[in-house]
Amino acid sequence: MGDKRQANPNIIHHIATGYMGTCVVLAALELNVFDTIDRKPLTTKEIAEILGLNPRPLERLLVALTSLGLLERVEGKYSCSLETERYLVKSSPSYFGDYYRFQVRHCLMPDFIRLDGLIRENRAIMSDDWSEFMDDYEKAEVFILGQHSASMGGGRMLASKFDFSPYRNMVDLAGGSGACSIAACRSNSDLKSVIVDFPNVLKVAEEIISKEGLSNRITTQPGDITKDDWPAGDLMLISLIISGFTRDNQLKIFSKCFDKLPSSGAIIVHDFLMNHDYTGPVLSALYNLTSVEGVPTSGEDMATLLQKAGFVDTVIEPVIPEYTAMVAAKKP
Ligand SMILES: C[S@@+](CC[C@H](N)C(=O)[O-])C[C@H]1O[C@@H](n2cnc3c(N)ncnc32)[C@H](O)[C@@H]1O
Repeated sequence: MGDKRQANPNIIHHIATGYMGTCVVLAALELNVFDTIDRKPLTTKEIAEILGLNPRPLERLLVALTSLGLLERVEGKYSCSLETERYLVKSSPSYFGDYYRFQVRHCLMPDFIRLDGLIRENRAIMSDDWSEFMDDYEKAEVFILGQHSASMGGGRMLASKFDFSPYRNMVDLAGGSGACSIAACRSNSDLKSVIVDFPNVLKVAEEIISKEGLSNRITTQPGDITKDDWPAGDLMLISLIISGFTRDNQLKIFSKCFDKLPSSGAIIVHDFLMNHDYTGPVLSALYNLTSVEGVPTSGEDMATLLQKAGFVDTVIEPVIPEYTAMVAAKKP
């Protein structure tokens, strides 16, 4: 007797052709399709004329974008979907297309295509050593400009989930472009922050912070948080990095945070955290693949480690739904 259960092969087709969708989005971003359509619904011929492109391949791209739900097509005219208008049109305050243009295209995709080899060789996506990767200014700049585009949205969501108002001096460990500090400082006028990260990262961050007009409240200190010292503060934030460290390094960093905080000081861990039985969310699981030396980590795992370091009152909460979560805790 054969297996009579119904199986849907499209589940596999959708997953395994996902790379085509990525490339369609990248092409549309690079060709300025979304910015052009943003102004008013246009035909293929009109878009082709504005962009100086041949209408035939452009039509194929527009149809693919429409089928993916990124454009709408009514009576032969294309317009942006709500999500495209909000997140992929450069003039939108919530634009995050540069994350795909910079970090996804140049840092992640070239390595994801050789994931099997990296797993066989016990190597990490991008680099086995963050410090070495960030020693190259051009690589650091591309990575951080992309990260900034993605992290501003996450930073704003974190600022709306966590009450930063009791705190005055935050230390943003491995703070990258400073996106989380920028979002938190914008919504809390008494807050100051110090970003600790590698020197080339901080060069890019300083420019971004200066453009935001926040250089008087957000400062930087070069350092490797697994080795070097960092300033004391009443709030320690570590966003989108610690799940990629070994459990030993995670505990070492949490213990040092504990020592640097006063009583009633707090720590926030924001990361790609798995649910308790490691079955999702999908995006967290996929981003766990970019870890350098960690293993997939749940909110509960982080809470246990924080408690081991002496923290109390741990709270686990989603930040970007189905994507990231935070674990916040206090020093007694
Ligand atoms: C994915 S980015 C996240 C940046 C920022 N926290 C955010 O949420 O946007 C990871 C950051 O960790 C930094 N990083 C990685 N290992 C580090 C270490 N050992 N010491 C200091 N910074 C580190 C990288 O340079 C990079 O800026």
